[in-house]
Formats: sequence, C-alpha cells, structure tokens
Amino acid sequence: MRVLGIESSCDETAAAVYDSGGGLLSNVVSSQVAVHEIYGGVVPELASREHIKSITLTVEKALSDASSGRDNIDGIAVTAGPGLIGSLLVGLSFAKSLSFAWGKPIYGVDHLESHIYAVFLENKVEFPYIALLVSGGHTSLFNVQGWNDARLLGGTLDDAAGEAFDKAAKMMGLGYPGGVVIDRLAAKGDRQRYPFPRARIAASSADFSFSGLKTALRTFLASDEGKSASIEDIAASFQEAIVDVLVKKAFETARRENVLRLVLSGGVSANSRLRELSSSLGEASGIEVLLPSKALCTDNAAMVALLGERRMSEKIFSGPKLNAYAASRFSRG
Ligand code: KG4
Ligand code: ZN
Repeated sequence: MRVLGIESSCDETAAAVYDSGGGLLSNVVSSQVAVHEIYGGVVPELASREHIKSITLTVEKALSDASSGRDNIDGIAVTAGPGLIGSLLVGLSFAKSLSFAWGKPIYGVDHLESHIYAVFLENKVEFPYIALLVSGGHTSLFNVQGWNDARLLGGTLDDAAGEAFDKAAKMMGLGYPGGVVIDRLAAKGDRQRYPFPRARIAASSADFSFSGLKTALRTFLASDEGKSASIEDIAASFQEAIVDVLVKKAFETARRENVLRLVLSGGVSANSRLRELSSSLGEASGIEVLLPSKALCTDNAAMVALLGERRMSEKIFSGPKLNAYAASRFSRG
C-alpha cells in the first residue's frame, strides 16, 4: 500500500509518500519560518495563507520525488488535529478534494500520534515504550503499548517546552524558532553558570511546569547581573533547566511504569543537549533511548504517511465527514 501524507497543523506545509514495501519514498517540507520570524512566533492567520500558497507545489513535489500519482497512490492521510484550525483546514480540504477526485480513501491522522510513532520511520522498535513528546504545543509522556494504544500519563500544566524556548528567545531578543537559536548559542555557554529554577513536581507524577522558569528568566534579564551576562551562558543555563526536568521526568516515568525503552519525539527532541543527556543517561541506566533524526522530530508529513499506511493496512479509514479539531483528544488514564 502506498500513501500520500499531508501535514499543515502549524507553520510547515509538508507532504510525503510512504510505501509498505519501499518505506519512505519522498519527504517535502516547506517552512514558513521567514514569514513568522519578525513576529517572534507563529501568526495563525498568516500561517493559513502561506499553507494555501504552498500546498499544491509541496504535494506535487512529494508525488514527483516518489514517482507517484493517481495510479499508484492507494490512500491519502492528512493531519486532522490538534493544531491551528485555519492551518489544519487547508491541508484537510486539499486532501479531501484529492481523495474525491482520485477516488482514493482518506484517513485523518492525529498530530500527537504521528509524532509518537515517527520513530518507526528509521528504527525497528518493540512495544511497549515511553514516548516523551516535546514540541511547541505539547510536552507529554505516553505509555505506548501498541499501534492503537498510546496512554497519556501526564503533561505540562502550563507552557510547553518548545513554547518556553520560543518565549525565552523572544525575551532575549533572539530569532525564531527560539529552540534552534538557544540550542546553537548554548553550545558555547556554561550550562551551570546560572541555576535557573526547576519546578518541583512530585516524582510520582508525570507532569511538567515551565512557567516559573520563564518568570525567573524575565526577572534575571532585568537585573544588573542579567544585563551584563553573556548571552551564551544564559542560553546554556536556561536550556539546561528545561532539559534537566524533561530527562529526569522521562526516566522516572519509565522506571515507574516498568518500561525500559524511551522514545523522544516532537520538535524539541531535535535539541542537542536533550539528545546528549538522554543518550548518556540511557547508557548508564540500562534504559534504551531511541532518537529519530532531527528532520523527523520537527513537523513533517513522513510521520503522517507512515501512520496513514498503518491504519489503512488495517482497513481503518475516515469517512467524508472527517473534520479538523483544535484541541488534543488524549485524556489521562
Ligand atoms: O514539533 P514541532 O515542529 O511543531 C509543533 O508541533 O509544535 O515543534 C516546534 C518546536 C518549536 O517550539 C521550536 O522552538 C522547537 O520545537 N525546537 C527546538 C529545537 N528545534 C525545534 N527546541 C529546542 N532545541 C532545538 N534544536
Ligand atoms: Zn508537531
């Protein structure tokens, strides 16, 4: 089975083709970073307009890179939510039109699920595993027991980790997306220089909180010490405070759930320090750590096509009433 995947939940317009036998045949991402950069964050209305401008060319390129078209595409998978509703509707309407015109089935993919299972694009993974999903909109831990069984264990009580990176970069007058800039600057800084606070959430909980850290950074930047501090040291210390909490909580949760396999996913899992610390702790503790390559951590349609192929192979399709949704459908338990 060969599936065309389309993703437009936030600020990347993406399309990819995944084949049951041949694996990933194409993976095209059209980024809107240049459009949102000057605002220091994604502007939803602009994001929808950019998706409209680039979706046709992005899908055409993904199909031509995969030497595919109407005759050999068996189904269309599209991100249905959660995400920015206007952005989602562009991809969804495009996918529905294509499905109707080509007479091919459609499947609406959940964005969080596509991140959680993206690791299968490059690795043979055994269930169960703990997935740490860290992105601009989400910071959650899941116990993933199978292809249709991801249980939400906990998540952020306020800001997502990526949101904390992006807001911090904005406060420091750096570019967008903040995580990428802070990651780059942090490589040249001293991560122990400023001991930014780590939220004290009970070890028995899989929840996170980053709003206190954001406030601490704001206060520090306004202080005399902050005004004369090196930007690299601030970036490294701030990044360390986030990574420290993410890694500690993920490993505690893996032990508590007695699942000794940890998969990182979502844009923030492209972070160099998060990758380094989780890998070294994994080796030291006997917990297997799997990291998708950076391009498959951030938003892409390869993960959408993969999950679509999986579901459609099981004869699971969405009907014509498929619609976009803004909020996460996962609840704890
Ligand atoms: O998964 P993603 O591409 O989109 C969402 O679903 O949100 O994640 C985007 C987030 C942004 O907040 C961005 O700052 C963050 O991922 N990010 C990073 C890095 N690369 C992207 N954060 C830290 N370090 C990075 N290298
Ligand atoms: Zn995402």
